[in-house]
Amino acid sequence: MKNLIRFSLALIALMVTSATVCGQQLQDVLSIRPGEIWPDENGQHINAHGGGVLKYGDTYYWFGEHKAEHTSSALVGVTCYSSKDLLHWRNCGVALSVTDEPGDDIERGCVLERPKVIYNKVTKKFCMWFHLELKGKGYNAARYGVALADRPEGPYKFLYSQRANAGTWPMEFEKQELAVIDTLNAANFKEGWTPAWRKAVTQGLFLKRDFGTGQMSRDMTLYVDDDGKAYHIFSSEDNLTLHIAELTADYLHHTGRYTRLSPAGHNEAPAIFKHDGTYWMITSGCTGWDPNEARMFSAPSIWGPWTQHPNPCRGPKAEITFGGQSTFVLTLDDGRNIFMADIWRPRHPIDARYIWLPIEFEDGKPVVRWREEWKISD
Ligand code: GAL
Repeated sequence: MKNLIRFSLALIALMVTSATVCGQQLQDVLSIRPGEIWPDENGQHINAHGGGVLKYGDTYYWFGEHKAEHTSSALVGVTCYSSKDLLHWRNCGVALSVTDEPGDDIERGCVLERPKVIYNKVTKKFCMWFHLELKGKGYNAARYGVALADRPEGPYKFLYSQRANAGTWPMEFEKQELAVIDTLNAANFKEGWTPAWRKAVTQGLFLKRDFGTGQMSRDMTLYVDDDGKAYHIFSSEDNLTLHIAELTADYLHHTGRYTRLSPAGHNEAPAIFKHDGTYWMITSGCTGWDPNEARMFSAPSIWGPWTQHPNPCRGPKAEITFGGQSTFVLTLDDGRNIFMADIWRPRHPIDARYIWLPIEFEDGKPVVRWREEWKISD
């Protein structure tokens, strides 16, 4: 009798297991469902957070942060997925791996966020930039990192990490601005968030503080313009001001030409695209893993002047970006744009979700409307 019960239990377990396995194999992804589990071709939830997408040939490559079960620190590195239709994704494995070398910039346990990859047509190399925080140093390092590969899916070779544009002032800083900076004395602005402090930040209080060591570089994206010039856009100056910095022709360094966007405006998570000659940027405020209201800016040139517009999101939870935070805008070959954001789950980071939504235009301005599900072909 005991044996019969054991045999029956084993049989039931086998049936349940195979049903689950088959369930995953048979379960086809039919549409994009923002905020839901997004299974890859193996039925595993895609693990590529804070990411970006590169199209190379007829294939899309999605790069993002590998997130672990219980920590947001990098235990694996940057992952890569590939797809032909933006719906079905194949796991290509780890594109850039963290190391086990003590003291290494990208040592396992560092913070490696918001990786983006661009292709350099001249060098024929794939260039990855990301936000890097050194292991055990919290968010104090505020560096960007650069890695390089011969193939889109990698492996990427880590090149270096550092702060940005040391010893260089923004392009718009001329005699008058530099004269004002000369007068700024940090000792007079010990109390933060006062109108006087805000004015001093706008005038360059933190630029001056970090002039020698290089400017802070946290949340970031990359953008390649139609003329092949590339730009690194990142939260700097204690996350108070965004910097847009031009890259060298090989996309591996800054040229030293950079501008500031929304000084003291406290923007993170920049995502940029161009539509009919106008540059649009969607950002978030600074509330860590908690969602907040998206912001939007536009400019006739990458160098500005940048004008702020109201939140482009529409629908339930539009006032908190549908519970997410912007990471990238993917422009398709036909000119349509897809807004990509992350719904973070800091207590269970691996379970963080993706929001992909089409960007529509209303009265000449981008609008991101919530949809439970949609298809690229819609
Ligand atoms: C967010 C940022 C994320 C991550 C997080 C850490 O504001 O966009 O990339 O750095 O803070 O708290």
